[in-house]
Amino acid sequence: MPSPEIRILKTRDQLFEAAAAEFAAQATEAVRARGRFTVALSGGSTPKGLYSLLATKPGIPWDKIYFFWGDERHVPPDHPDSNYRMANEALLSRIPAPPDHIFRMRAEEKDADAAALQYEQTLNEVFHLSPGQFPRFDLILLGLGSDGHAASLFPDSAALNETRRLVVANWVEKFKTDRLTFTFPVINAAACVIFLASGPDKAAILHEVLENQAANLPSQKVQPTNGRLLWLIDAAAASALSRKP
Ligand code: 6PG
Repeated sequence: MPSPEIRILKTRDQLFEAAAAEFAAQATEAVRARGRFTVALSGGSTPKGLYSLLATKPGIPWDKIYFFWGDERHVPPDHPDSNYRMANEALLSRIPAPPDHIFRMRAEEKDADAAALQYEQTLNEVFHLSPGQFPRFDLILLGLGSDGHAASLFPDSAALNETRRLVVANWVEKFKTDRLTFTFPVINAAACVIFLASGPDKAAILHEVLENQAANLPSQKVQPTNGRLLWLIDAAAASALSRKP
């Protein structure tokens, strides 16, 4: 397993600039090589900062980008907690993205398992998957939860052990709700996964994730089998790391 690339940026704004530059470069290269760029977006305040900045960047081939979500809250798309709503307000409504390139999780469906199965079907179709195959996203963006979760793969939740499904409804006991989430096999099949972590609240957990192998946190199981893992973090989030790359 190659070790992750870790880049520490001084400020939160520099972190967003670095992430936007990485997104633009990857999108341009994927479109040049394969005619399209597939990206899974994340919820959270740090990814939101990136989306707002991306919306202002010229030269990104928006019409060739296909948008997905790595996780979603079990709410309708107009709900304040909706990850789709956040990405739509910060980015998608402000760029010329073709509506048929936007694949949101249908989390308004009461039955969360049914919604997960529907999204799995969407992935099967868009990526032309045979049974047993996993999609290879060009990029999966992730935030880091302060309990070490990534996407909606929370500590001690059932989805951590999933090896066959692409998307599942995952009961999160601390919020007493289901979340829809990609599974590890999907995340780890990506060509690139970028984690974004910003601010002093992330310092302790980032130290655990990057420097304590024994912590056994969900975000430590993000290990692309044939792809890049890039951490973009700001100095405040990096402040408890003992190794400064
Ligand atoms: C969600 C997320 C989640 C998030 C982290 C970090 O739906 O909540 O996808 O994994 O990215 O909790 O969030 P912050 O950047 O807000 O700390």
